Amino acid sequence: MTRRLLVGLMLIAGTIGGWVLPGHGQATRAVHVAVDAGKPGAAIPSGLFGVFFEDINFAADGGLYPERIKNRSFEFPEPLMGWSRAERGGAKGTLLAIERRQSSDGANRHYLRITADAAGAGFGAANEGFRGIGVAAGDVYRLSIRARRVGDGPRTIRATLDGHDGQALATADLEGLSGEWRDIAVDLTPAASDVKATFAMLLTVPGAVEVDTVSLFPRRTWKNRPAGLRADLVQLLDGLKPGFIRFPGGCIVEGRHLETRYQWKSTIGPVDERRLIVNRWNTENEHKAPDYFQSFGLGFFEYFQLSEDLGAKPLPILNCGMACQFNSSELAAMDTLDEYIQDALDLIEFANGASTTPWGRKRAAMGHPAPFNLTMIGIGNEQWGPQYAERFAAFSKVLRAKYPRIALVASSGPDPDGARFEFLWSEMRAQGADFVDEHYYRAPEWFLSQVHRYDKYPRTGPKVFAGEYAAHTKGTRRNNTEAALAEAAMLTGIERNADVVQMASYAPLFGHVDAWQWRPNLIWFDNLHAFGTPSYYVQQIFGANRGTHVLPMELTDAGPVVGSASLDRARSEAIVKLVNPSGDAQPIVLTIAGLPRASEVRVTTLGGEPEAENTLEQPTAVAPQSATAHVTAGVIEYTLAPHTLALLRVR
Ligand code: AHR
Repeated sequence: MTRRLLVGLMLIAGTIGGWVLPGHGQATRAVHVAVDAGKPGAAIPSGLFGVFFEDINFAADGGLYPERIKNRSFEFPEPLMGWSRAERGGAKGTLLAIERRQSSDGANRHYLRITADAAGAGFGAANEGFRGIGVAAGDVYRLSIRARRVGDGPRTIRATLDGHDGQALATADLEGLSGEWRDIAVDLTPAASDVKATFAMLLTVPGAVEVDTVSLFPRRTWKNRPAGLRADLVQLLDGLKPGFIRFPGGCIVEGRHLETRYQWKSTIGPVDERRLIVNRWNTENEHKAPDYFQSFGLGFFEYFQLSEDLGAKPLPILNCGMACQFNSSELAAMDTLDEYIQDALDLIEFANGASTTPWGRKRAAMGHPAPFNLTMIGIGNEQWGPQYAERFAAFSKVLRAKYPRIALVASSGPDPDGARFEFLWSEMRAQGADFVDEHYYRAPEWFLSQVHRYDKYPRTGPKVFAGEYAAHTKGTRRNNTEAALAEAAMLTGIERNADVVQMASYAPLFGHVDAWQWRPNLIWFDNLHAFGTPSYYVQQIFGANRGTHVLPMELTDAGPVVGSASLDRARSEAIVKLVNPSGDAQPIVLTIAGLPRASEVRVTTLGGEPEAENTLEQPTAVAPQSATAHVTAGVIEYTLAPHTLALLRVR
C-alpha cells in the first residue's frame, strides 16, 4: 500500500469518544489538538526561515559557481594543481608556469607556457575539473582563453572535452593567436552527458603558446546570466522560498588566520581581478581537500543579486578582527580594528549607497545602480569570550552612529548553552544587539528536548537568530528522516515563539558528493545533478507554509506529538503542523475554533523509516506527499503515521 493511500484511509478512520480506531481496529487514545483561529497572536516575520551559505563542501567553486576549470588562472600556490600533461599519439613537450613580476599585475600573476617539441596527435594541458567536469549532452559550454603565441608558435589551440572513458565528447579550435595577449572564445556542445569528463587544450603542431584565464562555463545558468550561477542549485534554493540568505558563513568568515579571513572587497569587480585565497576547509578534518581554494567568482555582488532574485533579505556576516577560535584564535588588536569596521561601513555603502558614492559607484558599474536594500549585518561568526564582546562594542558604536537602521547580529559562540553562551547573551543584551545568533549541531534527542526552549525566553531585548543548526545522528551523521523530524519538532517551537526567534537557518547548505568535508548538509549534488534531503523538505514545508500570525494551540494527551499553528490571514486559512517522531501511529482529533465555515483541509506529509534518505539515484524517496480531507462538524480526524510531519491547511 502506498503511503499516500495509507494516509487517505487513516483520514476516514472512526472516532469513539477520545479513542480512535485508526483503521486496523486497535483502539489508541487520540491526541486532542485545539487551535483557536479567533485569537491570532504574534506576527510571524516573513523572513523567519532562511538559508545559510558557506563555501564548504565545494559549495561555491565546483558548486553554485559553475566554472568547470579548476585553477583556471594558475593562481593556486602550486600553479599546475588540477592540470596535467596531455600527450597524445607520441607527443612530447613541457608545461611551465610563469610568474609576472610587475606590481601592477594584481591578482592574476601566473600564466602557463605550453611547448610542443613533438606534436603527435596533440600536446598540451588537461584539466580535471572539480572531481571531474560535468557536461550535459546538447548543452552549450563557452570556452574562453587568454592566449598568445611565442615567437612563431602555433596560431591555433585545439580544445577537447573527453568523457571519463576517454571518448571525445566535443572538439573545437581556438584560432587567431598572435604575439599579443588576446581573449579567444568558442562554444563546445558535448555529444553525450558525463559527470566526470576532462578538458584539454592541445597544440597540434610544434611550437609554444602561453595561456591564462581558461574558463569553461555553461551557457545555461540561473536566469541565463553569462558566468551566472548553477541553475539547478538555485532552483532548489528558490524552492525553499528563503526569507534571508546568510553569507559567506560560517568559519570561512574568520579564516584560520586573519590573513586568510574572508574580505568582501576582493570578491567584487572583474572576476580575474578577484584575488584567490585558500579555502578554510582545505585542510580541515579527515576529508581534506588540498585543492580547495576560493576564486570568488561567486562574490558579494553575486550574493546580493541572488538574494534579490529569490526575494530574500541579505544577511552578510563580517569578520570582527578574530580568526577562528578552533584554529589560531588570532586577534586584531583593538587599535587596529578600524580597518575591519571600515569594511563593514563600506559594505553597507556598496549595498545601499547612491551610485554617486564611492562604493555605490562600484555596484552600479557592475550593473546594479539600484540599491540592494541591506537591512542587517552580522558582526563576527561563531566567536566567544570577552575579546568578542569588546570588538562587538567597537563595531556597534560606529555602525549605530552612521547607520542606526541597520540591525546588528551578534554571536553567542558555538554552543547553545554553557558558560560561554550565557556570558555572551548577557553581554549582548546589555549592549543592545538586535539579534543573537545561536548555533546548535546536536543529536536528534536534543532537538526533541528543546521544543519548548523558547517558551521561556524573555520577550524583550535581542531577538534570537537560530543561525546554524542541524540534527546530527549518531556516528555517521546521516541526512535521514530521523534527523529531519527532530528538526521539524524544534521548528514548531521556533514558529510558536516567532516573537522571540525571528530568523532560523539550517547549516550547512550544500555538499558535493565527492568533495565534502562536513555532513549533514541540506542539499547534495554531483557535477550535474542535485537533490534535497529530508531536512530540505522540512525547511520547504515550514518556509512555504509559514502563516502570518501564531495561533494558540493546546495539545491534550500529546504523547510524543508536538506541533504549532498559525493563521494565513491573506488566504483565511489555519495552518497546523504536527510532528510524530515516534514509531507508533498517533490518532489526532483537531478542532479549530474561530473558523466556523471551515470546509476543506489539505494535508501534506513527510516521513518514512527513520533511516530513510534521499540519494542521487532516488532523490525523492523521502518527499512531501499530499492528501485532501473534509471536515465534519468542525472536527478533523486524522491519524498521524509513525515518523511523520503533517501539515494541515484548513480553509
Ligand atoms: O556549518 C559548518 C560550521 O559549523 C560553520 O562554518 C561554523 O560556523 C560552525 O562551527
